[in-house]
Amino acid sequence: MSFLDLKVATAARETELIRRLVLEPVSGALPAFEPGASITLHIPGVGRRRYSLVNADPAAHGTPPKHYELAVRLEAEGGGGSRWVHRLNPGDVVRAEAPLNEFALAAGSHPVLLLAGGIGVTPLIAKAAAMKAQGRPFRFVYAARRREDFAYLPVLRALAGDDLVLHADDEAGRVLDVPALLDSLPAGTEVHVCGPKPMLAAAVDTARVLGWPEGLLCFERFYSLGEVDDAPAAMAGDGSFEVEIASTGQVITVPADKTIVAAMLDAGFDPLCDCMRGECGVCQTTVLEGVPDHRDSILSDSERAAGKLIQICISRAKSPRLKLDL
Ligand code: FES
Repeated sequence: MSFLDLKVATAARETELIRRLVLEPVSGALPAFEPGASITLHIPGVGRRRYSLVNADPAAHGTPPKHYELAVRLEAEGGGGSRWVHRLNPGDVVRAEAPLNEFALAAGSHPVLLLAGGIGVTPLIAKAAAMKAQGRPFRFVYAARRREDFAYLPVLRALAGDDLVLHADDEAGRVLDVPALLDSLPAGTEVHVCGPKPMLAAAVDTARVLGWPEGLLCFERFYSLGEVDDAPAAMAGDGSFEVEIASTGQVITVPADKTIVAAMLDAGFDPLCDCMRGECGVCQTTVLEGVPDHRDSILSDSERAAGKLIQICISRAKSPRLKLDL
């Protein structure tokens, strides 16, 4: 894998909890990206963390951009990644991986709704900029807990104009009614949603109830660490088991309704993880003893059968205890 060394050009407070960073190449040109892409930062002592590229200049899309722009929300109770990012200052150098895009904006003529919750606004800003440049109509609905939590408002107002709708939970006295919003859309509207788990769950459930065809709902998930406890969903028959940390001998109980990662966080460990869905491999760990119950979508059939690797963000145990090489 090739890495990029990026220098912090500017770092500034966007909201009380969101810090905005502009990163430039230490040398050479930056790889191009399309709206919806993210880069992964390598954070010393924490691991790999993915952040969406905000770049609102459509000239920066599809050609090597002059810089990457990130906006990172401070997760005080998190694993340390956002705290590290919030301490970065101009001149600091960070290591990153080239942009990946799992939330791309497909070409088309459907009407589009961009639906953002909290820090989930970040990848949708680049999409809004691209659509405005293409002359493609869109609406932008942005929900946050409080009005002061809205980020990039001048940028969004310039991009979406009267098609920007803001929903502050504290002013409305309730969270955004996602089912009602989706139900009100003209038939065939493509919805791109990025936000916290309850917003995504409401969007996915509503699309299913309304019988939307595949592909009309595109989403990207932003977990906060507070949501690790209940993600992913437990399966019928799940029970508790123990995990032994080989380096210390410490034994942690993993309850039926928690993942290994969540139980480790509770116990004061700081395991490496990213997707929390068993899809990226960041949390992969060697099993020294015990039988894993694989729930990921990464391992091959032969790796599953060998039982020597486990994705601790999602997989569990078939044996009473797993001894992990941690
Ligand atoms: S965090 Fe991605 S596979 Fe576990």
